[in-house]
Amino acid sequence: MRLYLSTLAKKIGVSCSYRLKKARHNAFLAEATLPRVVHIENTNACNARCVMCPREKMKRPVGYMDLALFKRLIDECSQWDSLEEVHLHGFGEPLIDPYLTERVRYAKEKGIRDTYVVTNASLLTSEVSERLICAGLDRIKVSFYGATKEAYEVIHRGLTFEVVKDNVRDLFDVRRRLDRSNPRICLQFLPQSANSHEEGIFKDTWQDIIDLSRGDRLSQAQLHNYATGRVYNPVNKKARRTSCGLPFETMHILWNGDVAPCCYDYNGCLVLGNVVAAGLREVWNNKAFQHLRKVHRNRTFSRVPLCDGCDQLKVPRSIEKRLLSYFALTIPPERDVAVAGGAEKREAALKS
Ligand SMILES: C[S@@+](CC[C@H](N)C(=O)[O-])C[C@H]1O[C@@H](n2cnc3c(N)ncnc32)[C@H](O)[C@@H]1O
Ligand code: SF4
Repeated sequence: MRLYLSTLAKKIGVSCSYRLKKARHNAFLAEATLPRVVHIENTNACNARCVMCPREKMKRPVGYMDLALFKRLIDECSQWDSLEEVHLHGFGEPLIDPYLTERVRYAKEKGIRDTYVVTNASLLTSEVSERLICAGLDRIKVSFYGATKEAYEVIHRGLTFEVVKDNVRDLFDVRRRLDRSNPRICLQFLPQSANSHEEGIFKDTWQDIIDLSRGDRLSQAQLHNYATGRVYNPVNKKARRTSCGLPFETMHILWNGDVAPCCYDYNGCLVLGNVVAAGLREVWNNKAFQHLRKVHRNRTFSRVPLCDGCDQLKVPRSIEKRLLSYFALTIPPERDVAVAGGAEKREAALKS
């Protein structure tokens, strides 16, 4: 069976595209001149206690990034041609930060192409929406994991369903009233035991409200372990795992200036440097970062316990799985319903 599938794969060019992808991936691993994405945590304070989020295990002090430090970070990274995105949130609720609008405006004035915020939207009143839109925010994702009050409030403990639903509707209204194309809005659903039966209702509720012409979308995420914060996914340390790619493209700066390898390190347990006294470029190229990249290139993950225990390392897939994903790539993925009625189109594509 394996031999047959591999011959078939060669015939339809899967192995060729796989090799090409692998070559690209290796080239990518070899070069890491500057990050493509910079995450700047404005605050790690939060007004919720969502069930899947390991906030109760967060040991770091709660705080807000100093505005002068933030501006200096933006000044530096706005000089980099390679920079594509700046995320203005971290392990907290970004709208709690009274300076969020000012941060967005500053980043846009400095020419940052893609400013992005992920929020629970509980504080997204129409006034806040208007301020963020006028400041030039490019993208916003709302974590909204229920279609009914019952499921929503079991998951997003401490938040109120009606408030968030009204805020999200108002966001669309305000953008329309201001006749702006920004921000692109993504409404995210994360299936888990309390809400998995509501996925259909969620899509039905929102798919006529999002505006595809402005780049909005509905998305579906998957539970992850948040390093060792949760145990949703098994980690097989014996498998031949490869890099998640993040140390080569992403710089994750916590509110106090510490630099962590990625957003999964919510406790900042692997601090690679600090940008209060050093420049971003200096930290990105320092010994600790280079060591981490070496570990990822050589796949010697046991040298870095955070990475060794993480469920985001890539596990090689069998040829059968690769074939299945090749066919899945040729049709719109069901998991991302950017196109209204994506599931039906997918079925039609499968039949044709
Ligand atoms: C830490 S939150 C910060 C932003 C904001 N407070 C929010 O909830 O949208 C970042 C994202 O991680 C998601 N998240 C939290 N725990 C998760 C888990 N165990 N698996 C997958 N996503 C998770 C949140 O729902 C949110 O979309
Ligand atoms: S997922 Fe976001 S809103 Fe929920 S507890 Fe975590 S940081 Fe707060």
